[in-house]
Amino acid sequence: MKGSALLTVVVAAAIVPVVVAVGFHGFGGTTPLRVDTTPPGVDTTASGTKAGGPRTADAARGADLFRTCAACHSVGRGGPDVDGPNLYGVVGAPVAERRPRYGYTQALRDVGGVWTAQRLDAWLKEPAAFAPGTAMGFAGLADPRDRADVIAFLATQGPARK
Ligand code: HEC
Repeated sequence: MKGSALLTVVVAAAIVPVVVAVGFHGFGGTTPLRVDTTPPGVDTTASGTKAGGPRTADAARGADLFRTCAACHSVGRGGPDVDGPNLYGVVGAPVAERRPRYGYTQALRDVGGVWTAQRLDAWLKEPAAFAPGTAMGFAGLADPRDRADVIAFLATQGPARK
């Protein structure tokens, strides 16, 4: 059981390729951070500038967008659960299990599995549709680019993966 759970996390990590440019010194640095967590099959060009061209998810832009989430979520390591659970390391983590002392709804617990980029994309598009009855009172991010960027940001907020 433990082994299979670990395998699931490894698989999840594999479909969330994180490419961090060498020489990255934090968001205040000059080297751009390039993180590609675009879930397969998700069209991030819908409202993009280069129609039809690939787009790399932008974690720095995701950090800006996370301000809407920050009303309810902390994301730093060891941060508190507020209205919603702390989100440090949530990408690749089991759904509704990472913060055992947080009171997740049964609706979210029933989802099971792990937070892959693809599932986070569906969740952030419309939480109430992904887990009917969830307590996450957030309408969702309609723009697929916004979702990809927020997921890219979340992927930078966790233990380093190899
Ligand atoms: C109005 C408050 C609120 C806002 C805004 C909000 N959330 Fe949430 N979030 C919650 C609550 C409450 C839960 C727990 C839901 C449950 O148990 O049903 C949650 C759960 C989550 C989870 C699951 C965590 C886990 O451990 O399984 C993720 C991921 C998440 N939110 C991401 C986001 C992101 C990203 C944003 C911004 C785009 C956001 N949330 C905006 C309140 C909020």
